[in-house]
Amino acid sequence: MGRWARALPADSVRGHTLFAQYCQHCHGERGLGSGCPDLSGLREAETQFLYVWIANPQMINPSSPMPRLDQLKPDEIRDIVAYLKSM
Ligand code: HEC
Repeated sequence: MGRWARALPADSVRGHTLFAQYCQHCHGERGLGSGCPDLSGLREAETQFLYVWIANPQMINPSSPMPRLDQLKPDEIRDIVAYLKSM
């Protein structure tokens, strides 16, 4: 995560909007996916893990079917992570 991204507080409300835009068609409205992992238990998950996963799932699991979303900016990923951890 870039230093500038860390300097601002993460915004889980914006993260929710981004989740609806980029993730919901796979993972479902509250992260309860049809065929995708349930994302509602991630409160305890490592922030850094979630960040890396969303930025590049194939770096963690080369055979993951989850697409890499190159259009997401670092601060947007940070906000999505904040939203996931608030679910
Ligand atoms: C095309 C469908 C698709 C989209 C779009 C998608 N995902 Fe996924 N996601 C998956 C699948 C399938 C898995 C399980 C794959 C695996 O474990 O390798 C997964 C796994 C995950 C995991 C890991 C869960 C765990 O328990 O390990 C997280 C976190 C996650 N997705 C978050 C997101 C977020 C946040 C977005 C939007 C930025 C997103 N996903 C977009 C299909 C998708």
